[in-house]
Amino acid sequence: MDRRRFSTIAHARHEFAVPIASDRAHELLRVAGVRPGARVLDIGAGFGGWAALAVEVGAEVVAFEPNPEFVERGRALGPRVKWMDCDYDTELVANGIFDTVLLIGSSHALGGLAAGLHEIDRVLKSGGRALVGDGYWQRDPDPAYLDVLGATPDELPHLTNLCERVPRIAYLTTSTTTEWDHYEGLYRSTILAWLADNPTDPDAEEFVVTAIGGSRRICVTVARP
Ligand SMILES: C[S@@+](CC[C@H](N)C(=O)[O-])C[C@H]1O[C@@H](n2cnc3c(N)ncnc32)[C@H](O)[C@@H]1O
Repeated sequence: MDRRRFSTIAHARHEFAVPIASDRAHELLRVAGVRPGARVLDIGAGFGGWAALAVEVGAEVVAFEPNPEFVERGRALGPRVKWMDCDYDTELVANGIFDTVLLIGSSHALGGLAAGLHEIDRVLKSGGRALVGDGYWQRDPDPAYLDVLGATPDELPHLTNLCERVPRIAYLTTSTTTEWDHYEGLYRSTILAWLADNPTDPDAEEFVVTAIGGSRRICVTVARP
């Protein structure tokens, strides 16, 4: 299945490609030092949800994103966001020039969290801050849940292990059940609406299977303690 196309369609109505509410994203950017004139690096910027908020407060953003459709959507944010429509490339980014680095749902872009934190240290100015969003298990995942996700238990750490891997945490928060429900619900309803409008699309059959998998995932999500 063309996962990138599926994700592009499914996120068409989201503000962010991660489960977070807009007011909380604003606050997190403030804590991460995003202010008028700040230079922000957004690695794996998606369609620019975080970049949009940074620009709103007067920051300048460099955004790396390889999905061309996400970049096209993000270009509507105007000239204060410089889009790099490619995989993140360390050679394109100088040492110590950013006030804030965003690595939100995209540590895989840098080969994992440890490598990501190393790169963040390299590109941040002295006294700069990073906003890092990564996945974790709330509890040991049930085999049926792993089956639906196509995941393995070692794919994510527990929160305490995740925190141990991140030095100098200034502020910690986790996505709420409401944020997850909104994210997953919008994802599923958007892809189902698209499938209803495009039943003969060559990808439709595979997308249906994935969307139905998604609905089982919703049930698991809702049942989560
Ligand atoms: C879960 S999304 C998060 C997007 C955004 N940070 C947000 O919170 O809305 C992860 C993003 O990382 C991008 N990505 C994947 N591999 C990448 C790479 N090597 N370099 C930069 N971005 C990458 C994906 O295309 C996707 O848009």
